[in-house]
Amino acid sequence: MKVLVVGNGGREHAIAFKLLQSSKVERVFCAPGNGGTATLARCQNLPLEVNDFAGIKQFCQDNNIDLVVVGPEIPLAMGITDYLQNFKIKVFGPTRAGAQIEASKAWAKALMAESGIPTAKAAVFTDAAAAKGYVNTGSIPVVIKADGLAAGKGVIVAATIEEAHKAIDNIFAGQFGSAGKFVLVEECLVGQEVSVLALTDGIVVRPLLPAQDHKRIGDGDTGENTGGMGAYAPSPLVTPELMAKIETEVLQKAIATLGKRNIDYRGVLYAGLMVSANGEFKVLEFNCRFGDPETQAILPLLETPLEDLLLACVEKKLGEMPPIAWKEGAACCVVAAAGGYPGDYGKGEAIAGIKSTEGLTNTYVFQAGTKQTNTQIVTDGGRVLGVTGIGENFNSAISRAYAGINGIHFQGMYYRRDIGHRRVQK
Ligand code: AMP
Ligand code: GLY
Repeated sequence: MKVLVVGNGGREHAIAFKLLQSSKVERVFCAPGNGGTATLARCQNLPLEVNDFAGIKQFCQDNNIDLVVVGPEIPLAMGITDYLQNFKIKVFGPTRAGAQIEASKAWAKALMAESGIPTAKAAVFTDAAAAKGYVNTGSIPVVIKADGLAAGKGVIVAATIEEAHKAIDNIFAGQFGSAGKFVLVEECLVGQEVSVLALTDGIVVRPLLPAQDHKRIGDGDTGENTGGMGAYAPSPLVTPELMAKIETEVLQKAIATLGKRNIDYRGVLYAGLMVSANGEFKVLEFNCRFGDPETQAILPLLETPLEDLLLACVEKKLGEMPPIAWKEGAACCVVAAAGGYPGDYGKGEAIAGIKSTEGLTNTYVFQAGTKQTNTQIVTDGGRVLGVTGIGENFNSAISRAYAGINGIHFQGMYYRRDIGHRRVQK
């Protein structure tokens, strides 16, 4: 089997790596891939950007690609699945209509209201004065969100009325471009965030191991929000009972409502949830794809061949698959970022030490913002790479991840020292 993976992050490196563990997967191609996928055996990068649908289609037809797996939300929201399906190419990932669940927070809120899915109370506005008026009558802190895709940056948790007003003005002034046509003003939830990624063929849903992500740049979960500085799985916060509830009250309801709208959703449905101290939960957001870095923690624990699961989703046969099998134990992924991220950062720094981690057991380096030059691997993005450790418990998974990352170096390298801190047993 030949698979083409669309994207160039750590998520895509982890997907390619996992697919290639199966003897049924002959080759993986990445469009465009990164330094990690360039150096992975039986994997090849293609000089095709994620929005080059015609180029991707041509490559699939010329090379008899059996399956396309789409990593990022942008090509999904642009309709890559619809485009490739027109040429009878099998694609894992929802159509443009389905991707609205991530691409428009107002659309997702309406779907949740219609389905009776628990979520934060919110109102949608098209002008600043009305949004500010609403803020003035509500409580603080309050969450201000741009409606559309903003690479995880379009959410402001405002501690004061002034901050909320400023966020509203900034969004309507175009801080996030066309993502800011609508503004959501949302009740601020407290608790711990968990990521429940589920596979679906539009009929049944199969949740993967629940994960937790560290979104803030600084130790102790402080500072600016990022795309994610580390993740671990399985989250003990999501007990089997809670997972069963999330499955029926969130995931299945969402799929049912999508179906009612004639949206045949096949791919990952990712629910970002806030879980309170007493185990109640509400949905913060839906994503239409694998999470990053959660995927780098989840996939190394997967035992069932990934390609079987992805194909079953595409072929609407997920219900025929046996329960998903997992390795015992835990996984932890620590992300190394370029100095300055999530603000401005440099590129082109040589990365040393990746080879040295190859000898470490149960430790995997997933490259993200990297590229291969003629002679070396250099930095090429904000989140540069992630190191995942797996082990019999969180302590061993976390120490393996840190032993791995401590052996890697580049100018300006930054990583959090406390990934998984809630799970460390003293
Ligand atoms: P989103 O893109 O909607 O997941 O928001 C990004 C991040 O903002 C989330 O992961 C949370 O950390 C935070 N956030 C979003 N909505 C809320 C909310 N209603 N209450 C508290 N924090 C939130
Ligand atoms: N780690 C958060 C996300 O993938 O959106």
